[in-house]
This record gives sequence, C-alpha cells and structure tokens, in this order.
Amino acid sequence: MKRILVVDDEDMNLMSTKFILSKTGYEVETADSGAKGIELLKESKFDLLLLDVEMPEMNGIETLRIIRSIPAIADIKVSFLTASSSQEHLAEAVHLGAKEFIKKPCMPDELIKTIEKTYEERNDLVMLVVDDEPLNLELLRMTFESSYHVECASSGKEAVAFVKNNIPDIIILDLNMPFMDGNETYETIKKIDGCSNIPVVFLTAYDDEETEIELFRAGAMEFISKPFIPEIMKERIRRLIELTNLRNVLHEEVLRKTNDLVNSNRKIKKLSEQIIQALTSAIDEKDTYTNGHSNRVAAYAKEIAVRMGKSEEEVNDIFYAAMLHDVGKIGIDNVIINKPGKLTAEEYDEIKQHPVKGSTILKQISELPSLPCGARWHHERYDGAGYPDGLKGEDIPEIARIICVADCYDAMSSNRSYRKALPQEVVRSEIENGMGTQFDPDIAAIMLKMIDEDKNYVMREK
Ligand SMILES: [Fe+2]
Repeated sequence: MKRILVVDDEDMNLMSTKFILSKTGYEVETADSGAKGIELLKESKFDLLLLDVEMPEMNGIETLRIIRSIPAIADIKVSFLTASSSQEHLAEAVHLGAKEFIKKPCMPDELIKTIEKTYEERNDLVMLVVDDEPLNLELLRMTFESSYHVECASSGKEAVAFVKNNIPDIIILDLNMPFMDGNETYETIKKIDGCSNIPVVFLTAYDDEETEIELFRAGAMEFISKPFIPEIMKERIRRLIELTNLRNVLHEEVLRKTNDLVNSNRKIKKLSEQIIQALTSAIDEKDTYTNGHSNRVAAYAKEIAVRMGKSEEEVNDIFYAAMLHDVGKIGIDNVIINKPGKLTAEEYDEIKQHPVKGSTILKQISELPSLPCGARWHHERYDGAGYPDGLKGEDIPEIARIICVADCYDAMSSNRSYRKALPQEVVRSEIENGMGTQFDPDIAAIMLKMIDEDKNYVMREK
C-alpha cells in the first residue's frame, strides 16, 4: 500500500485529505507542522509528501528545503497544497523538485487525479542523446546515466523514430551528423505531436556562430561545445530542465488564472444584466399600463442599432440604455402615472420630469456613461420641440434618437386601458409623418423597414 504523509497546519484540512485518500486505498499519516513532518519522514518510509505551503513558523518551502538537505529523506516526492496563488513560491518549489501544485480547497476527484499523476511519473527523466560518433554516445551515456534514463540514437532518423513512440524529457543532439543533421532532426522532431516544447541541447564541434544564432531563433535552448566537461554539462542540463519545469508550471498557472478571469468576467456580466433587468421590472411595475414596455423598447432599439452597423459593444450599450430609459418614472407619483383620464397641465409637467430624474439616477453607474443620455433625451424631438432641453437634430445624442423612435413605436403598438394596439398601417404612417420633425429621418427609415418586413405585425404588445 502506498504511504502518503500530509503536512498542514489546519486540522480540518488534515482530516478531510486523510479521509479522501484513505478511502481511495492509500495509507495516510498526518502532521500539523513542518517540523513534525520531517520527524515522521525520518522515522518511516513514505512514497509521497503532500505539503501545505502557507504554515506558521516553518512554511512548506522552508520545510522542503530542510528535507532536501537530509540525505536519508531527500528523495521523497513532494506535491504542494496551497490556498493562495503560489506564484511567489513557484520558482523555489520547482527548484526543490515539487511535482504538482494542488489548489485548496480541492475537490476529492482533483486530489486523487493529481496524486495518481504524481505516481505515474517516471522516477528517471528520459534523456535522448543523438550522436553519430559511438564514442561520444558512450561518453554521454556514462555522464548522464546516474541521473537520467538515457536512450541513445546514432542518427537523426533513429532519433525521430524513437521520439514518435516515446516523448523524452530532454534531447541532446549532435549538430554535425551525416544524412540528417542536428538541425533537420530538430525541425522534424518539433513537428511531432506533443514534441514542440521538448528542451533540446545542441552539441557543436566547432564555433559556428551563425548556425547557433539561427538555431536559437528556431527555439533551441542551449549549445554545448565539444569536447565538453561532464560536470559543467550536467549542471547546465539540470538547470535547463529546472527552467523547463518552471516554464510548464507557469504556463499552467497562466491558463488557470486566465480561466478564472474569464469565469469571473462572465459572472460580473450576468450580475449586471440581472440588476438591469430587476430595475427594468421595477420601472414597468410602477406603470400598470405599460407592461413589458422597457423590454420591448430595448429589443427594438437593439435591432435598429444592429441595422445601423453598430459594434457589439455599442449595441449592448444602446440595449441597456433603452431598458432603463424610463427609470425616472420611479420618482413620479403613482397616482399621476396611472391616472386613467386626461392629465392636468401640472400633472403633465410632473410627468415631464422623468427624463431628468432618470439621468440623475443613472449618472451613478459611471461604467455605462450612455445610460443617462438615453434617459435624459429620449423625449427630445428632431425639430427641437421636445423636452427637457429642447435639443435639435444631431445635437440630440444618437442613442437617445434611437430610443425615441423605439419608444414611440412601442407606445403606439401597445395596448392601453382605453384602446388596443393601433393597427400596423396607422403606426407606420405616424412614424413616417414624424420623419424629420419628431424623429431622426435616417433612424425612422430603419424603423419603417423593420415594420415593412414584419408582415404579421409581430412587433407589438401581445
Ligand atoms: Fe419616457
């Protein structure tokens, strides 16, 4: 049975990790501090250490540093458990040979999968050495066989055949070989599935700066000149592998963070949409005669914006501004808003306050500056006879000109307490008659086209 030591300062984490792993068939011991963990490692043999990064007194990195310095326990496989972003510790953790980073709180499936993955890893990294000189090949094997599982190939062709079946962790490649030289071998291997990022070290017998520059540009990671000094070469390769591991861990971290960011952006967008929809329902709730008015105006305004060739972002802005164009009605007396008969002059003046009240409310949403424009100026007329500011023509912001057409269209195509939706031809002629007086003629023309395409008069309150 595989034995795992879990070191974490929080009892709850120890208990839950032990519970999950024991159920899966591992024998689990726990320690609530780095120091106790080190003592347990010294006392008996473990196959894997799961180490919490954030611990008081001695954190996970410090603990691992000590473990690596004690020969009897230095070889233990280690994966880190971490609650926060481990980026500040990444480099040192990889340097210390950490296998995996498991983010807390972790789901049981994720924990087990990561641990199985750690066990599946080969004890020895596979190194492929490629050289046409048998003596060199032998020297390379002798240099590295104590630290790596070394595979030899005496030609580029042999190397490519090997890589097609087994992806090595690193390749040492002689540059100067007959038939298929190091460069060509490298280019061929890079194209094999899963091999584009294998670190490759070239062995060169001569100073060929141009070739070296060319190969560096093509992605080679290191050059070593022959004859090489084994100890220096070993150290350079060790560092290269460390660097590659770090790059891979960082790459995964970037992917994970990007994914988190995309998800939280999606959530924020959804939340904003739901808040706008809730506010819209509050507006329509206030006015019993205009059931669903804001949503319909938004749908018509959006369609106009799309037909005007607006970008996706602009279309969304117009849509939201249209949803909230009547938000100022929240500040108007219910009795006036829902009065069945004709309004007095004072009451009408009160109703006419809603654009200004609306823009005051919406100015607070600074992330969407188009919202107050839609609210304030949707009752302006193209000829300047509207309210509240009597703006004329293109002085009226385009977003408000669009909402104005959509708003009036919906007012006519909706049912009222005293009448049903007006017939489509009546609505059409009203829009047409208002071109250049009430409405921006270009926007009204788009609305007319939408009406003409709506053969069954679907665009109305049902
Ligand atoms: Fe309005």
